[in-house]
Amino acid sequence: MGFSGRAQEYIRRVEATLDRYLPAADEPPQRLHEAMRYSTLGGGKRIRPLLVYATGEALGVPCERLDAPSAAIELMHAFSLVHDDLPAMDDDDLRRGRPTTHRAFDEATAILAADAMQPLAFGILASDPELLPFPDAQVRLVATLAEACGSNGMTGGQEMDLAAEGRRLDAAEIEHIYRLKTGRLLRASVLSGAHCAPGTTVDMYHRLERYIDALGLAFQIQDDILDVEGVTEQTGKRGGSDEANCKATYPAVLGMDTARRRAAELLETALDTVSDLGPEFESLRWTADYIVRRSG
Ligand code: IPE
Ligand code: IPE
Ligand code: MG
Ligand code: MG
Ligand code: MG
Repeated sequence: MGFSGRAQEYIRRVEATLDRYLPAADEPPQRLHEAMRYSTLGGGKRIRPLLVYATGEALGVPCERLDAPSAAIELMHAFSLVHDDLPAMDDDDLRRGRPTTHRAFDEATAILAADAMQPLAFGILASDPELLPFPDAQVRLVATLAEACGSNGMTGGQEMDLAAEGRRLDAAEIEHIYRLKTGRLLRASVLSGAHCAPGTTVDMYHRLERYIDALGLAFQIQDDILDVEGVTEQTGKRGGSDEANCKATYPAVLGMDTARRRAAELLETALDTVSDLGPEFESLRWTADYIVRRSG
């Protein structure tokens, strides 16, 4: 099976796992549970789960052990999107081709649904039966996810992104924000796949870090390019949101050509890092290409 076939299977697995762990929509408090399911199950590319499965499988981990880390990371990602779209942040009304959570429900419900998705994510890592025989991996998964999402990770990056609105940052400052707000959770996805493989060497671990650090930056640059050039039918988002919010993005501050060149250079770096690894790593090469060349 080519990787796109495997990717479909990974998406099916993570969605089934999310469905299993999310409280039923008719379980009280219904509106909160409905909003959690709406925010998590309504589409999305599932790139972070793909990275968890692709890395884990390349290192010989059975898929069943990767379901919980994939679902936990996707829940944290989905929580970050719900907050990112709120009027106090990017104030967006369309996500994944549907009204954002605060539009479909209301602001308080959106905030609370995102609040509840975070402990659910950590609870999954602590209790999933496939992970229980691997307590060392569990501790690493929890620590990695916590670090990726805290004030020195995604949340800190989101704060810096808001503080940078209307300012002309230089490339290094923009990349620092990207590394935190987006890069850290993508990095956690790859490293979580590696944590599930007991024999991962330090050399392999560092190589994977270099791969995803380059790709994480490229991912956000491509997201910013699509905010300018993408079409809603493919991105599921309104477009023009960054300009409306005077965001300090790569295309806005450094120009579209520079943004494209930097994304291509980062893709090269990511591919170089894993180019001499065996066919079992083909999925990571495929994912790198997909992340930079995607139009949605
Ligand atoms: C959007 O992430 C937010 C960023 C970090 C740029 P994705 O582009 O992965 O969003 P979904 O999950 O596919 O909707
Ligand atoms: C969001 O970046 C990064 C997050 C941590 C959610 P953006 O604000 O550019 O993401 P989109 O374009 O709304 O998906
Ligand atoms: Mg934002
Ligand atoms: Mg946004
Ligand atoms: Mg964006």
